[in-house]
Amino acid sequence: LADGPLKGKHVLVTSGPTHEPIDPVRYIANRSSGAQGTAIAKALVARGAHVTFVTGPADVPPPHGVDVVSIQTAQEMLTAVQAALPADAAVFAAAVADWRVESASDSKIKKSGKKLPTIAFAENPDILATVSQLKTGRPALVVGFAAETDDVIAHATAKRERKGCDWILANDVSPETGIMGGAENAVTLISADKAEPWPRMGKDAVAARLADLIAETLATSAKG
Ligand code: C5P
Repeated sequence: LADGPLKGKHVLVTSGPTHEPIDPVRYIANRSSGAQGTAIAKALVARGAHVTFVTGPADVPPPHGVDVVSIQTAQEMLTAVQAALPADAAVFAAAVADWRVESASDSKIKKSGKKLPTIAFAENPDILATVSQLKTGRPALVVGFAAETDDVIAHATAKRERKGCDWILANDVSPETGIMGGAENAVTLISADKAEPWPRMGKDAVAARLADLIAETLATSAKG
């Protein structure tokens, strides 16, 4: 492990999409390349952290130096996250599917005449909210993301309160921003007392700035 301000700290990072099976060949998922989560994990490792990286099927490979836990579904992601605790900090960068198919079929659903299949959904666990609201064993710092397309700050501020995390990195993922799947991100850091817009920068630079803030915050809370 690298020497650095996060030496001796365990940080959990979720990344990528989850895949919720419809049948053995079909699934529903959110769009997510895994680029931002991967960049964050890499920045944390570079600062000396021990990183557990819980990832769905992402486009980009996991960074070197992390403990990778590969999962497919939201339920598997929750189980993996719970197994990885305790952690000093947790960053939830995964694009978790909000719903799963209530009863996925064990065999491929066949096209049959004119009758279209219908899918019944069940709600997935909210992993960020679950960890944020832990009564015991809550990480000292819990960070979530909010990908929004309208009223970004208002929605993300409400989301932070509803979920109970410490910080939310809010970003505008409207198609015209080119952020989704792109190399850059434009985020606003929302905490209990402020909304701080960061300039548009590379996902690596967002990750570096976040990792520095995490290191500072854990150092301060450890002193207190
Ligand atoms: O509610 P929404 O999906 O917009 O919240 C986004 C934040 O919550 C992200 O940090 C995401 O990783 C996390 N999340 C989660 N589990 C879910 C849904 C979202 O951890 N089921």
